[in-house]
Amino acid sequence: MFRSRKILLFLPTCFFFHFFSILASTFTYTVPDQYFVNCGSGSSPEVYGKTFVGDGNHGGVSLSSGNNSPVQDASLSSTVELYQSARVFRKLSWYEFNVQQDGTFVVRFHFLPFSSLGNVSDARFSVVASGFSLLSRFTVEKSNSSPHIEEFLITITAGKFKVYFVPDGDNSFAFVNAIEVFIAPPGFIPGSAPLVTREGNRGDFYSNLLSFPSRLIHRINVGGKNIMPNNDTLLRSWIPDAPYLFNRESAKDSVYGFRPKYQNSGAGATVFDAPEFVYGTAKQMNIDNSSGYYLFNITWSFRVKGGAKHLVRVHFCDIVSDTSNEGLKFNLYIYNQFSEMIWPYDVIPQLAAPFYRDYQVDSDDSGFINVSVGPSSDSNVKNAFLNGVEIMQLIEDTGSVSEGGGGAHLFMIIGSVVGGVILLVVILIVVLVCLRRRKSKAVEAFDRPVVPFYGGSSYSRTTDNKTVVGSPLADLNLGLKLHLSEILYATKNFDTKLMIGEGGFGKVYKGMLRNGTKVAVKRSDPRSSDQGLPEFHTEIMVLSKIRHNHLVSLIGYCDEREEMILVYEFMEKGTFREHLYKIESSEVSTPRSTLSWDQRVRICVGAAKGIHYLHTGSSGVIIHRDIKSTNILLDEHFVAKVADFGLSRSGPLDQTHVSTEVKGSFGYLDPEYFKYLQLTQKSDVYSFGVVLLEALCARPVVDQFLPRDKVSLVDWGMSQIKKGQLEQIVDPLLEGKINPDSLRKFGETVEKCLQEYGADRPNMVDVLWDLEYCLQLHHTVAPRMPYEDSMTDVGLPMPVIQRLPSHTLASDEDESNSYIDSSQVDAGEVFSLLKTGEAR
Ligand SMILES: *[C@@H]1O[C@H](CO)[C@@H](O)[C@H](O)[C@H]1NC(C)=O
Ligand SMILES: *[C@@H]1O[C@H](CO)[C@@H](O)[C@H](O)[C@H]1NC(C)=O
Ligand SMILES: *[C@@H]1O[C@H](CO)[C@@H](O)[C@H](O)[C@H]1NC(C)=O
Ligand SMILES: *[C@@H]1O[C@H](CO)[C@@H](O)[C@H](O)[C@H]1NC(C)=O
Ligand SMILES: *[C@@H]1O[C@H](CO)[C@@H](O)[C@H](O)[C@H]1NC(C)=O
Repeated sequence: MFRSRKILLFLPTCFFFHFFSILASTFTYTVPDQYFVNCGSGSSPEVYGKTFVGDGNHGGVSLSSGNNSPVQDASLSSTVELYQSARVFRKLSWYEFNVQQDGTFVVRFHFLPFSSLGNVSDARFSVVASGFSLLSRFTVEKSNSSPHIEEFLITITAGKFKVYFVPDGDNSFAFVNAIEVFIAPPGFIPGSAPLVTREGNRGDFYSNLLSFPSRLIHRINVGGKNIMPNNDTLLRSWIPDAPYLFNRESAKDSVYGFRPKYQNSGAGATVFDAPEFVYGTAKQMNIDNSSGYYLFNITWSFRVKGGAKHLVRVHFCDIVSDTSNEGLKFNLYIYNQFSEMIWPYDVIPQLAAPFYRDYQVDSDDSGFINVSVGPSSDSNVKNAFLNGVEIMQLIEDTGSVSEGGGGAHLFMIIGSVVGGVILLVVILIVVLVCLRRRKSKAVEAFDRPVVPFYGGSSYSRTTDNKTVVGSPLADLNLGLKLHLSEILYATKNFDTKLMIGEGGFGKVYKGMLRNGTKVAVKRSDPRSSDQGLPEFHTEIMVLSKIRHNHLVSLIGYCDEREEMILVYEFMEKGTFREHLYKIESSEVSTPRSTLSWDQRVRICVGAAKGIHYLHTGSSGVIIHRDIKSTNILLDEHFVAKVADFGLSRSGPLDQTHVSTEVKGSFGYLDPEYFKYLQLTQKSDVYSFGVVLLEALCARPVVDQFLPRDKVSLVDWGMSQIKKGQLEQIVDPLLEGKINPDSLRKFGETVEKCLQEYGADRPNMVDVLWDLEYCLQLHHTVAPRMPYEDSMTDVGLPMPVIQRLPSHTLASDEDESNSYIDSSQVDAGEVFSLLKTGEAR
């Protein structure tokens, strides 16, 4: 910590402190009296020792004119005068504060919805300041009488500081009951802190902490009680830790009956960092010697936004040790991989002396930050404790406010009255201001009515109806939402070298998230976005509801700016199809790997399990509608997972589904669905039957270059099966390597799946059972070929008796190569989730 300021304590209980800053200039910090604003009121009540000046009374605070109205709470739902009034904004409006000094400011907004405001469910709005969107499309839950308070730390330079309230659309409104804007003590937030991720700390420091506003997420008084703003030096509230404690039995409260020994200088914390009620209470290990003695960690789990940057501040004050002979050492853990030894005596050689540690923690996608303390092997005394935790999320959503809306309106009037010359001048000024603004993002230099955009200045178009980008995904699973910056990081700004596929809908990239997870990033082409939006939605809805070993997991999505990005677990071995045959003209030309019969059937079994789960799973019937060999992906162990739920249908299958247009892939379409628009699970069974044929014959479902009777895999395959000439269609690479009983059973299964009428087809569970049976037959009965089913055996080249005309192996592929160990083929490089669009 870089605290070189000095604090002189005049009287033990007195709150006057002198600081010597790094520059050795002396100054005093007290909480300023400005700005505490009581919104929508002419009166100025005193709350927590501060006078909240009515916003009708100005005093260094100004308000945009028009489009706002003061509202009083007629029903007096709160007894606190501050919450009996609010200001309501129907259009974009702002408060402006005259800031005298550079520094980090505490900015708080108080919200208490009351019925005179109107329908509070219509109050959805954003709050923008300093070029950042502090609150985006925010709603306040109607509560009892306790206000909802949002707190931010924002580093600003002296001058005008503007806070914009932006209702989300014409029918919405924004409101606020009270605002606080005051400077924090110097050095309140460090410029940098150790960077901790799920992988731990690699010696990195994050040094941009002051460049972004941060939003308070948790402020916890560990081992203590609720602390209200009147008991806190910076009018903060602290809440007890019990709800966050992973195992309540692991810890017990300890209370120090005296005032903690705040230090005058050096590494200690000041009373402004946390009040005595925080440092004076702690949780320590609940070591119970009667019931056996063992060591454990105390863990707290804090819910946070996944994939976001956080400032985590942990407060310590050793009130648990009884002597200070070098004292206790213990470990602090953040997630599991990061640990740091905490040795209070080394920080301040005195008991009960408060200090804190800051870390910049990148949350993983679990949506939790877990903080633990546990005993250290270096310590004679085995114990560990914690006094307080604060978690702030860094706000990276830029919320630039630019011309448009009312501004454009004003603009037109001037133009028509005075003429083109002034118009030009105005344009020039606007351009200049915009340019200047780009340079200094933190300073809000705007005076005009403005329209916010989310997603950064590079995207600030001024189309009116595009203003607050009305993301239709607002109701979707926000836990899965990823920040665009994370995606850019994962894909190295969509580096073309990482592109692993491309299709009609866009591109797929291989990437790695900050937490080390390998992912496939599917980025829709913005041009096809109108068409792709429903599918984007469906995919998120379906995949966020379900998890299954044989369904590709959705790790997240991103709908920032106009992006439609889906992030999946990375499937190392790519699609099932690319292991079966090569499509002429297809981009990537890698040698085809040879899947044994055993592997192929296992893959089919896996896929069948996934589809069966969709059809019967806990979240209702889901029909995939697009089962095909490119939508069955393989992980590094060739475990099959079904992918691409963009066309899937869920919910009760009433007759309304009949009227939907036919969707799916050519060659796989259930003829019954095609003819009668009758969509049932059996349509998937049909498509899956086609995949089974592909697995058997290793050829495309439609191959125009073949003789007429062989163009369609289904027609040709079925006719051969009916004639009992199954051997004629088997992939030559498997010639003689399949147990005949297994092959016969497989053929029967295919035939059942491809029945013309859905009613005649089996359910997925029957198909699954048949396939499992095929596997058994292949292994237990007459294992004719000892090497046929092993991934590692290198089989003897078998004489290739017959090559199918459809066989599309590269002609230069040597026969013996066909038998190479498939695991040697680095199919990871050719993964293409894509191609899914190709046949739609
Ligand atoms: C409030 O608005 C929501 C949606 O905007 C609506 O569903 C609800 O019925 C409204 N309530 C009242 C009391 O008007
Ligand atoms: C907070 O302040 C009130 C009175 O202002 C006092 O009674 C109470 O003991 C204080 N302490 C805590 C921990 O709330
Ligand atoms: C509990 O037992 C351990 C080992 O037997 C001992 O080191 C420790 O001092 C005991 N703690 C207490 C509080 O009695
Ligand atoms: C505490 O947690 C860390 C990290 O998960 C682990 O390495 C350590 O073994 C744990 N210690 C105890 C005593 O459980
Ligand atoms: C973190 O906390 C969550 C929620 O309590 C828990 O499910 C998860 O297992 C924890 N992670 C670790 C690594 O302890």
